[in-house]
Parts: sequence; C-alpha cells; structure tokens
Amino acid sequence: MVWHASRVSVGRLPSRRYPPRVSRTPEYAAALRTALRRAVGGVDERELTRATEALVARYRSVAPASAPILASRVHVAAYAAYRMPATHAALSRVLGAVAAHGLDPRSMLDFGGGTGAAAWAAASVFEALESVTVLDQVEDALALGRELVIDAPSPVLARARFQRARAGAWPEVRADLVTVSYVLSELDERQQDALVADAMQRGQAVVVVEPGTPDGYTRVLRVRTALIAAGWTLLGPCPHAADCPLTKGDWCHFAARVNRSAEHRRLKGAELSYEDEKFSWVAAVAPGGAELPAAETLSARILRHPLKRRGFVEFQVCRPDGSAGREVVSKKAGERYRRARDAEWGDELP
Ligand SMILES: C[S@@+](CC[C@H](N)C(=O)[O-])C[C@H]1O[C@@H](n2cnc3c(N)ncnc32)[C@H](O)[C@@H]1O
Repeated sequence: MVWHASRVSVGRLPSRRYPPRVSRTPEYAAALRTALRRAVGGVDERELTRATEALVARYRSVAPASAPILASRVHVAAYAAYRMPATHAALSRVLGAVAAHGLDPRSMLDFGGGTGAAAWAAASVFEALESVTVLDQVEDALALGRELVIDAPSPVLARARFQRARAGAWPEVRADLVTVSYVLSELDERQQDALVADAMQRGQAVVVVEPGTPDGYTRVLRVRTALIAAGWTLLGPCPHAADCPLTKGDWCHFAARVNRSAEHRRLKGAELSYEDEKFSWVAAVAPGGAELPAAETLSARILRHPLKRRGFVEFQVCRPDGSAGREVVSKKAGERYRRARDAEWGDELP
C-alpha cells in the first residue's frame, strides 16, 4: 500500500498527489458510456426494457433476493446499461474521498463486482494501482465486464481479472483494498457479516457502498460497527468512531451526479440529461498497517446541500466530536469562506 500523506509521511512515494490532482472521473465515465454502447448495443431493445423493468421492481423491494438478480445475459446487459453509470459515479466519489486522505492501493479485490463499476472508478482515482480482480458469482456479468474493459483508458483496467467466485468461498488472496459495492442487499444478515469479515481478512482497507436509502444506511451502519469493533480506523464518511448522531428518521447518505447517455435515457424512460445517484458508504483501514494519515485529520462531513446565502454559507454537518448540527462560514472567514462556497454535500467542511 502506498500512502500519500501530507501530515504524517509514511508512504514510500513522495506526497506529490496530495491534495489529489484533477479528477479523471469524467474521462472514465465517458469511456464507460462508449464501452456500454458498444457492448449492449446489439441486445434487442424490447428485451432490454423488460429486463430493466424487472430490475427496477427488484431494487424497489427491500427483501433480500431469493434468486440471483442477474439471471440471464439480458438482465446483465440491462443492469450494466441502467445501473452501472450510477454505481460507477457513486464509487468514484467515495474512492476520491479516501484518496484525498492519502489511500493509494496497489492491489484491489472487488467482491460481488459484477460488470466492474468499482474497478473503473478505482482505475480513475488511484495512481499506484497495479492489479484489479473482480469477483462475482455470475459468469455473464464477468464476461460483460471483460468486454467493457477491452478499450479501457488505463492499462491496469484493461488487464483487470474477472473471476468467478461465490461469497463464502472467495479466493485466499490479499489486497491493499477490498471493495463491496451494492452487494449487501442481496444477502441476509448472516451472509453480510461473513462477507465483511472476509473483506477485512483479505484487505488492508475496506470500502462498502450501498444505496442511499434507509435500508442501505442501516446495512452500512452494521458494517461500520463491525469495523470499529475490530479496531479498524474509519476513513469516512464519519469523522469519528462514536455512535452515529443522526436522529431517528434521518439517514446518512450522499449523491453523485450521473450524466445520462441517450440510450440510458431511453431505457429509463427519462427526459433529464442527468440523474443523482444516492448512496451510503463507509471506509476503514486495518489496525497495524501503515501509520494512518487520516485518523486525526478528518474534518466535519457535510450532510446536506449547503445553503449558500449572500455573505455566508450554512451547512448541516457531522463533527469530529461525534455530534451533528449546523455550521456557518461567513465572509469574514476569508479564504475559508471562498472554499466553503465551492463545498458540496458529501465533502468535508473546509
Ligand atoms: C447490484 S450488483 C452490484 C454489482 C457491482 N458491484 C456494482 O456496484 O455495480 C450485485 C452483485 O453481487 C453479486 N452477488 C450477489 N450475491 C453474491 C454471492 N453470494 N456471491 C458472489 N457474488 C454475489 C451479484 O452477482 C451481482 O453481480
């Protein structure tokens, strides 16, 4: 693992990318849209629409699936066309946030990685990445993932391995980072706990992303509890390891903007040229690994769209002391105010 740390210098590389350089996410998102157009373009549109409707219905249900959701090649194609741009956008945002705290893995395992959305996001964010392995139980999803990366914008993504594996029988390999993206809802609680334990056993850092719904947040909280109980240090979004301060009825979630292609709009029957993907997440690093650049340096996390008024910006935040509440940055704060005007929901408070 390479750490790019400004305050605690533990990495083997100099901290030249801290703060992170200009994001490559838009370039990768565009390349992914092109790859999806090429790979899914041949599928019969009516079948694709029917499969998309089945997926939408499934994702609206909160019960764990009793059968694999990606049940056929058409379902896989529909998932990739309909969901992958959004899961890719969420993952890019999350991995960007942990990269900003110095995490720069050389190797990555993606549990339940399907068609490879997290791999695409990681390749755009992490500079030191050398190997990516996507693991999933559905061969059709892996096959489409392989097809998508053929002309990928980075060599590490183009040579990513897509390997069949089932939860409970992941290969006994280690990686700097294990990602678990939009998988837990397909498992019961016992399986979820086992999968997270497997991720912690194999990775030095673990990132879990779920839909930004009350249920997704509940699953993420459960993972957070397990990570803290095992002595792991949170990299985000929480700037503390105390109990979540959000009150009943509220849930911690964020949003990532997704540009919709014409195909994407047609499939979803949507008119807007973009959508906002809501997600919940947690990331942590193992005890005893590299010294932690992030632990003491996380700032308050912005929990809502900031209210930008004339002369001040008002935020709802989660603070490092474990409380949640309102913060105001006024014009008098100078440079901090200027940065506050650019801050968004999900960012750290400048
Ligand atoms: C909603 S998809 C998410 C795919 C990808 N991670 C993403 O973010 O786009 C869930 C994935 O988890 C995989 N999955 C579910 N249960 C699994 C299991 N028991 N073992 C391996 N993979 C599993 C599914 O096959 C599917 O590809």
